[in-house]
Amino acid sequence: MYFSKEKLIDEIKGLQRKKNAVILAHFYQVPEIQDIADFVGDSLALAQNAYETKADIIMFAGVHFMAETAKILNPLKKVIIPDLEAGCSLADSCPPAEFKAFKEKYPDHIVVSYINCSASIKAMSDIICTSSNAIKIVESFPKYQKIIFAPDKNLGNYVNNITGREMVLWNGSCEVHDIISAETVIDMKLQHPDAKLIAHPECKAIILEMADYIGSTTSLLNYAKTDSSKKFIVATETGILHAMEKNSPEKEFLIVHTDEKCSCNDCPYMKKNTLEKIYLALKDEQPEIILEKDLIEKAGKPIMKMLELSK
Ligand code: 13P
Ligand code: SF4
Repeated sequence: MYFSKEKLIDEIKGLQRKKNAVILAHFYQVPEIQDIADFVGDSLALAQNAYETKADIIMFAGVHFMAETAKILNPLKKVIIPDLEAGCSLADSCPPAEFKAFKEKYPDHIVVSYINCSASIKAMSDIICTSSNAIKIVESFPKYQKIIFAPDKNLGNYVNNITGREMVLWNGSCEVHDIISAETVIDMKLQHPDAKLIAHPECKAIILEMADYIGSTTSLLNYAKTDSSKKFIVATETGILHAMEKNSPEKEFLIVHTDEKCSCNDCPYMKKNTLEKIYLALKDEQPEIILEKDLIEKAGKPIMKMLELSK
């Protein structure tokens, strides 16, 4: 199949109208996907939007756990994803059988799970959180409540520091944020002393300690837009630059690159999605997210609790 980009976008829009399909995209998608999406958001906003949509088909341009969450919130709708292989190293770092055994070691703890996990882990959780509401969700429990936080140890450690809790942390991480090196950040700070460092809480503690501002994708975007600084060192995934540059064309954004050969910090899973795959998935209505009814029910409860607390 060969279509020009313009023709591909026309075909996608035509299929969307015909099938009453909505395209939801995460800020880590490539710019051309963000530009054709009906809604671009962080994990929380995407879950909220998926819950409220009136569309018959949800095309989720993000990664598997996000599309799975959309399906759990919409058991009767068709949820499709451009590429089933768009997984997540953080979700994969928490295999259900191992997590079940871990949880059994702490029978008096409740489980707060970061949304970046599989439906099976969600089903074993008491409540879900995202990076934008993790502190609020944890603080909704009394101080004496014992908590297991899974799967991201960096976000869990950050929430522990902010809230003064001692949550038990599952030892998982995101390969994109965890790889960001302190040496690279220090080098960039020395080269750009006039820049502010902004970081996602999935980064290691040493990076967060140096940051001028820490926040979820949406929160970083808002900060970069409203803060008076003209230059920012950005410690997160590259896709965020598209919206940052659109919001503030007069400002300079420097992504913390992975190594000297690369000037980006791309998530290989998010970047599996392309306009061609979106077109094909809308045309064929697959790959589709299929989940057992029982799993949808069990995983839905902790997600709904989060949505209730995030209104
Ligand atoms: P947020 O969208 O909550 O900022 O999370 C970032 C992320 O890693 C998504 O996979
Ligand atoms: Fe998963 Fe990290 Fe990619 Fe987000 S950026 S989808 S947490 S691997």
